[in-house]
Amino acid sequence: MKGVIVAAGYGTRFLPVTKTVPKEMLPVGTKPSIAYIVEEFIASGIREIAIISSRRKKCLEDYFDREIELEEVFRREGKTDKLALVAPPEADIFFVRQREMRGTGHALLQVRSFVGGEPCVVAYPDDLHVGARPLAGQLAEVYARTGKSVMATILEPGDVSRYGVVDPADDGEGVRGFIEKPARGKEPSHEVSIGRYLYTPEFFDLLAEGWAKHESGEYFHTYALDRLIAAGKVAYKRVEGERLDTGEPGGYLDAILRNAAADPALRPVLERFAKERLGL
Ligand code: G1P
Repeated sequence: MKGVIVAAGYGTRFLPVTKTVPKEMLPVGTKPSIAYIVEEFIASGIREIAIISSRRKKCLEDYFDREIELEEVFRREGKTDKLALVAPPEADIFFVRQREMRGTGHALLQVRSFVGGEPCVVAYPDDLHVGARPLAGQLAEVYARTGKSVMATILEPGDVSRYGVVDPADDGEGVRGFIEKPARGKEPSHEVSIGRYLYTPEFFDLLAEGWAKHESGEYFHTYALDRLIAAGKVAYKRVEGERLDTGEPGGYLDAILRNAAADPALRPVLERFAKERLGL
């Protein structure tokens, strides 16, 4: 199983900081958000990870490299805890650049040869997962049992018009249809797709086939996904655990607060803030 992280976007919801800092480098605690995805992959047994990036995102490559100078200082001073903090992840990380912003389908075509004949988990790094069992691994289990591509979903009881919504098959696992951002009242269910997908190699073949016919503008991953769904080759997995949406400033703040609440060193700061500033 391979892993792919789609990190080429402009991050316009976080301007102006994203003029120079990739959205994926914005920290939750002291760790950049993309590092949580890499950890999820590694905990799921994935050891080969491709990151699709773009111009002006060189610091992503630096982040996953060694930091030899700091390593030497920490080694000399015997600071093993700090050494562990700067160690690169135990996975092979590959970088591929999307040279023009032509949509998610075009981005994923950049890793077609990396993925080869294996299934892979694709992550959109806005969605972070917290839970006992890593999300990519949850999808891999469904694939191992069904041989199908798998979409991760959450149950959203409220408005689902900003999501892609699954039309579940009667068996409670298959995907019969999928509607991207349905108008209110037109949603087939409240099972909404989040940014984690397991794709079989056929997905990339369909993607290439669609791209060959594509004429202009952006090209989306849904071209291939819709075809796999029509062929009955997609299942969904409702996420066990919690999903944090760091894709917009409010969700990002929520992720930071949850992280602080779970950190014994930071929790007192949060409690004091709640008492003194919010009167709670
Ligand atoms: C994307 C997907 C959508 C999914 C959503 C989850 O939309 O296209 O299917 O439900 O992420 O966050 P975006 O939020 O990028 O518009």
